[in-house]
Amino acid sequence: MAAVMNPSDNNVLSTESLAEIDKWVAKYPAEQKQSAVMAALRIAQEANGGYLTTELMDAVADYLDMPRVSVYEVATFYSMYELSPVGQHKICVCTNISCMLCGSDEVVAHFKKRLGIGLGETTADGRITLKEVECLGACVGAPMLQIDKQYFEHLTPETIDKILDNLD
Ligand code: FES
Repeated sequence: MAAVMNPSDNNVLSTESLAEIDKWVAKYPAEQKQSAVMAALRIAQEANGGYLTTELMDAVADYLDMPRVSVYEVATFYSMYELSPVGQHKICVCTNISCMLCGSDEVVAHFKKRLGIGLGETTADGRITLKEVECLGACVGAPMLQIDKQYFEHLTPETIDKILDNLD
C-alpha cells in the first residue's frame, strides 16, 4: 500500500506539475483519483524533458495514493511514455496493420536513410528519436506518424522530406 502523502511533501514533482495534475484529479470522484494516472505521467514526463524516472513514477504513485507497481505497469504499457532520455523531437512511426499495408516499411526505411539511425535510436546531436509504435488510431490516413503532439498522414518520401526540413 502506498504511503499517503501530503501534497507539500512531494518534492519530486514541481509545484506547476502538481497544479496541472490537480486539474485532472478534480475530474474524477475523490476516491478514484488514480484515474488521473495517465495525465499525471504525461505531465511529469513533459516537465522532465520527455522521459520518466523511477523517482517521478514513485512520486506520481504516492501523490495519487496508488501502488507504485501499478504506475510502472501503466508507464511500461503505453508507448507514449519514455523511461530513458529521448531527443528534442520524437518521431513515432506507426507500423501496425493498416499502415503496414499502406507502406510503413518504406516510411521507416526513408527515415533511417535520412537520419542515419535505426528504430529506437536518437541522432548524435540529440535532436531526433525515431520510434516504432502500434496503431495511433488514424488508420484512415495510413501510413502515418506522430511527431511530438502532431499527426502527419498519407506519408510519402517527399512529404517526409518536407516534414524533416520544416522541423526546428
Ligand atoms: S494502423 Fe497505423 S494508425 Fe492505425
